[in-house]
Amino acid sequence: MAATIAVVKERKAGETRVAATPDSVKKLIGLGFGVVIETGAGTASSFPDADYLAAGAVVAPDARTALKDADLVFKVRGPEPDEIAALKTGALLVALLAPYADKPTVEALAKAGATALAMEFIPRISRAQSMDALSSQANLAGYRAVIEGAALYGRAMPMMMTAAGTVAAAKVFIMGVGVAGLQAIATARRLGAVVTATDVRPATKEQVESLGAKFLAVEDEEFKNAQTAGGYAKEMSAEYQAKQAALLSEHLKKQDIVITTALIPGRPAPKLVSAEQVASMKPGSVLVDLAVEQGGNVAGAAKDQVVAIGGVRIAGFSNLPASIAADASSLYARNLVNLAALFVDKEKAFSPQWDDEILQAAVVARGGEIVHPGLKGA
Ligand code: NAI
Repeated sequence: MAATIAVVKERKAGETRVAATPDSVKKLIGLGFGVVIETGAGTASSFPDADYLAAGAVVAPDARTALKDADLVFKVRGPEPDEIAALKTGALLVALLAPYADKPTVEALAKAGATALAMEFIPRISRAQSMDALSSQANLAGYRAVIEGAALYGRAMPMMMTAAGTVAAAKVFIMGVGVAGLQAIATARRLGAVVTATDVRPATKEQVESLGAKFLAVEDEEFKNAQTAGGYAKEMSAEYQAKQAALLSEHLKKQDIVITTALIPGRPAPKLVSAEQVASMKPGSVLVDLAVEQGGNVAGAAKDQVVAIGGVRIAGFSNLPASIAADASSLYARNLVNLAALFVDKEKAFSPQWDDEILQAAVVARGGEIVHPGLKGA
């Protein structure tokens, strides 16, 4: 018999995304799965029950009914205790589990005998690019950060020459040029801003310049070695951070909109903009901190709040993809479809290929235990 995938309504406050769309349901059925979806699961992403039904899903009246017989569970965020309690023994659950920040949920999944995959741990190898949910979501977050920043900013983004005089272009500074930062640069450029950007990984310099922005960083010996083999940033020394702060102080004073996205996996976000630097900025300037959930890049940033400090506003967004829910859900759902192809064999029978390096890297709980080396014993 075909394996069944359950998709339930997200329960975390403000989470508007959903782990399957009518389009992804069709593809999952094509792979040999049956799909059960909790009623209303797609409503906040603008996908009505009727569209899931038309795509071939069964609509269940509540989460418990959807989960009862499911072999697989696809979610956006980690499950709540009542969802874990409703899982079938040995069910395989896939979600953005935030495994470092929310280890209790991984422990609870292990204790319940579930197998759990963290989408954050999908390795960044080319074969897994189509499953990379960190990238698909960060891309939209970077876009949306510029839109939010532009909306908060009381002036125009592009230079405009009018009969009444000229409006100057906004100066936008992007700090941290990973996936979100690169999309933020592209978006700010499309809106007509003058864009500069900084990062500690040398590889970003060329990427920034190829998008038509100017690169600014302390390019010393430490900078040359700041990228790990996995492509992530290392935590920089206190000495480097002091040099970085001095270089950026003069620059920040002149910026209108600053977007920060700097993260180091498994560590608190680096502090990039101090209270003094915020105070030095012009009235009307806006900072958008996308790292607020990991402690924030900007002093004074508060989760899901816009804080006014003097004439400067700091917006701390913990979940911008949820503000663009239909697209974010579509991309995430497609990431899951591509992953689901590793759960079936050539005859479309449910048979996860556990020796595949992608599954090996992403599995966090299995057989009653936490199995990911980065989480064990920590
Ligand atoms: P991230 O979300 O972990 O961090 C965002 C950015 O902050 C990074 O560029 C990082 O270098 C930067 N950062 C950290 N500390 C900083 C500091 N003190 N000052 C300024 N910037 C700082 O990064 P993300 O977006 O996940 O991307 C990391 C890398 O992985 C990139 O090179 C990206 O191109 C690569 N990647 C590779 C993929 C693949 O090969 N399949 C897929 C997606 C990303």
